[in-house]
Amino acid sequence: MKKIEAIVRPEKYEQVKDALCEIDVKGITVYQVMGCGHQKGRLENVRGVEVDLEMNRKIKFEIVVSTEEWAEKTIEAIQKTACTGEIGDGKIFVYDLDNVIKIRTGERGIKAI
Ligand SMILES: Nc1ncnc2c1ncn2[C@@H]1O[C@H](COP(=O)(O)OP(=O)(O)OP(=O)(O)O)[C@@H](O)[C@H]1O
Ligand SMILES: [Mg+2]
Repeated sequence: MKKIEAIVRPEKYEQVKDALCEIDVKGITVYQVMGCGHQKGRLENVRGVEVDLEMNRKIKFEIVVSTEEWAEKTIEAIQKTACTGEIGDGKIFVYDLDNVIKIRTGERGIKAI
């Protein structure tokens, strides 16, 4: 099982959500987050106060899928829809997942996704 975390631009939320719906993922968790990437070191001086202008609002998706193939499908759907080609488009992090437990039934593993 794989867990995919994707940080995307807030304005891409609807498109990414729709693309994930289309490939029929079994569940999605979404967060509003703040973050920065490579440009974080670029501090600007605003009225004598150093402000990190690169801590931006982003949307984080979490999706758990059963196989590597589903992970690739999910990654492709996100990258295709979230990409503008400009800095700040976000990132996709992929993890191996040990287990999933469905609370209602007690099912574990792939059955619980
Ligand atoms: N190494 C990282 N660790 C954790 N979160 C990250 C990392 N890189 C990026 N993020 C998250 O992704 C968001 C978008 O990152 P961003 O696209 O700016 O990455 P980048 O490496 O700076 O790429 P670019 O040069 O295209 O801007 C950040 O605001 C942050 O929330
Ligand atoms: Mg950046």
